[in-house]
This record gives sequence, C-alpha cells and structure tokens, in this order.
Amino acid sequence: MTDQPASKRDLYEQLAAQLFSLLAGERDLVANAANFSSLLFNSLPDLNWAGFYFVKDGELVLGPFQGQPACVRIKIGQGVCGSAAAKCETVIVPNVHEFPGHIACDSASNSEIVVPLLKDSHLIGLLDLDSPKLSRFDREDADGLEELVRIFLSSVSS
Ligand code: SME
Repeated sequence: MTDQPASKRDLYEQLAAQLFSLLAGERDLVANAANFSSLLFNSLPDLNWAGFYFVKDGELVLGPFQGQPACVRIKIGQGVCGSAAAKCETVIVPNVHEFPGHIACDSASNSEIVVPLLKDSHLIGLLDLDSPKLSRFDREDADGLEELVRIFLSSVSS
C-alpha cells in the first residue's frame, strides 16, 4: 500500500503519472476511456459515478463508466453534461438539486463536475464525475482533471 498523497494536488500529480503509464501503447478510444474511468473511480475519494459521454449525431451518448447504470442519451444544452457541452467549459455543480434541469441518474449524487473533451478545439465528449458529498469538487479538481483529460486525449490521437 502506497502512502496517501499529502494534498489534492499531489493526488492529481500521482494520477497523471499512473494514467500516462496505464494508457501508454494503446490508442483505442473506448479501451482508454474505460481504463481512465476505472482509475478515477478507484482512486478519487467520495465518487459514486465516473465516466464518459461522447458526441454522436449531435447528442451525447453514454460511453465507458464505473458506477450505477446511467441515462444513455443527453441533448446538448440539457442537464449538467449538456450544459458543459454547450459551453465547452468545465462545469462544477456544488449541489445538483439546485441545478436547473439536472438529470438524476443515481439518487446518491449530490455534486458533480463535468470536463469537456476538446480535440483540436472540437468537442468530442465529456468526462463526468458524481459524488454523494455536497461541494465535493473545486477548482483544484477541475485543474487536475483537465490535465488528466489532456493525457487521455493525447493517448488516443493519431
Ligand atoms: N447528471 C448528469 C447526467 C449524467 S449522470 O450524472 C451519470 C446531467 O445532469 O447531465
């Protein structure tokens, strides 16, 4: 058992190194998204869902994830995911019950963060994390996750 990282920043640095090794040598989008979601779900505290939605025919379609079964299709602009997709920006929701139009896939979720996957400034999907804890995610999580998303996207680029 390795020592617990001293800070959130240390944890994300450790995860960046782990993700880089985990995805090295593989370029398949689904395989790498699956391993990325598993790494997050099993390494970050207080998560009940971690996974992906990919843009297909103008809407968001469920990709690899860990957690309870989730809604398969989300329209751009709807819910937290659709809103992050419309803005192409990371969205942090401290209390999902106060977010207009939040789509409840797992009743255990109380807070959420969604990070867009931008390839050459083009939205290809989203990383979505849910937590049973209110205000689980902050700017440090956003920065750490955005860096992990960069590692993921460069692993699958040709
Ligand atoms: N809560 C999201 C839906 C996806 S699930 O959380 C996995 C939303 O409002 O878009």
